Amino acid sequence: MNASPVTAVIVGGGHRSVIYADYSLSHPDELEIVGVADPDPGRREMCRARYGIPAENCFESAEALAARPRFADAVINGTMDHLHYATSVPLLERGYDMLLEKPFAVSKEEMDSLCAVIRAHGNRVMICHVLRYAPFYLSVKKRLLAGDIGDIINIQMAEHVSYHHLSTSYVRGKWANSDVCKTTMLLAKSCHDVDLMMWFMQPTLPTTVSSVGSIFQFKPENAPAGAGTRCTEDCPLVDSCRYSSKNLYLLHPNRWECYAWADLEHKKDATDEDRLNSFRNGNPYNRCIYKCGNNVVDHQSVLFNFDSGATGTFNMVGGAALSMRKLHIVGTLGEIRGVMEENRYTLSRIAALEESGYTDETVDLSGENTDGHGGGDDALTADFVNYLRTGKQSVSCTSIEHSIAGHLAVFLADRSREAGGAAMPFDFSQYSAAAEEPAR
Ligand SMILES: NC(=O)c1ccc[n+]([C@@H]2O[C@H](COP(=O)([O-])OP(=O)(O)OC[C@H]3O[C@@H](n4cnc5c(N)ncnc54)[C@H](O)[C@@H]3O)[C@@H](O)[C@H]2O)c1
Repeated sequence: MNASPVTAVIVGGGHRSVIYADYSLSHPDELEIVGVADPDPGRREMCRARYGIPAENCFESAEALAARPRFADAVINGTMDHLHYATSVPLLERGYDMLLEKPFAVSKEEMDSLCAVIRAHGNRVMICHVLRYAPFYLSVKKRLLAGDIGDIINIQMAEHVSYHHLSTSYVRGKWANSDVCKTTMLLAKSCHDVDLMMWFMQPTLPTTVSSVGSIFQFKPENAPAGAGTRCTEDCPLVDSCRYSSKNLYLLHPNRWECYAWADLEHKKDATDEDRLNSFRNGNPYNRCIYKCGNNVVDHQSVLFNFDSGATGTFNMVGGAALSMRKLHIVGTLGEIRGVMEENRYTLSRIAALEESGYTDETVDLSGENTDGHGGGDDALTADFVNYLRTGKQSVSCTSIEHSIAGHLAVFLADRSREAGGAAMPFDFSQYSAAAEEPAR
């Protein structure tokens, strides 16, 4: 193992980057944060102080950082989705390796162009598909690799997005309007799940992808009679509406606080009065949930045909009482079914001699670290460091090449949805063999 830590510059000192960069605080021998680039002075200063970054290594943008000769091994790029391409290209051309948030591109054109830059410069780029590291999914993947359920006949996956998460991120929040954020719901929220499906199904790839979806709930015509426009300011239903900003945020100030109280981020010990003032001063989370100008779907179903003859479905359901990721894979020798949040799954094997016709094995992962995306956040950062130090890719490691199939499937699913559900051919022929993941 190298003696010196991997050095990295944060680009976009927001919520996600800090989660990864904090690995340097617990593992200073492995990762050292030596710079930051962010146009927000408060965030820049927060990163500078948190990681002890020299003032000369604090930049106002990714572009300003790229203007300086490379002074670190890598960049942690946690800018918003639609900025990934523009902020990454100049830094990759400077020779930085990169930990890049998902979705790494918001269109097929951006994806292809970014991959071309990386191939030309030979950078090591890992995409933050944190769920591949969650003990639940990693354990399932290992059982599939071991052949424990035989050849996969069908894979069913579902992501239920809770009503408060949906309201916060995809109705009132940063990913609610694709004209502004440039992503769809499937790309912003569920590219993780589609990536997992591609990972589980290796080495086969889809032949077609089709999809339907719409906005079911939060649109102006569904607003209750008499609803106002800003919950705490003009709405007589503020106490009774289960989605009012008072019920979702004021009464639960820690719920999604990093989004709901973004304007209070640098204020220590914010009070209820500060939060009410924030609502009075135009905080977007005080808007009536039915009148937010949101245009991304709140439920979507995707159907996959695979080259092996297998089929797959993925359902994203927003507005559920609780968040839940469900998985059920049926193979020729048995099946795996479980719920990620329960950190447990059942592997049932065909057993013709048993009276029941099968045997059950329960795999309990509750003893593992399941904080932060089921334990994925920390493990991913550790693996990124290892990838840079050794060049070796773990079974979970998602290089950019290995993220292509999942992103392409999402782009096609959304095209299909826009076309009313028509099957879209999944053409992978333009991608090199490097984009097909080896069975590790
Ligand atoms: N892997 C996951 O599970 C997961 C979970 C949530 C979000 N995300 C993704 O993480 C990314 C970041 O989300 P977030 O909520 O942390 O964002 P954020 O808004 O908190 O942070 C983004 C930062 O980028 C900065 N920025 C803007 N332009 C810049 C530029 N030109 N150069 C440098 N910095 C710039 C902003 O000032 C901001 O501080 C998004 O792509 C999001 O979809 C991933």
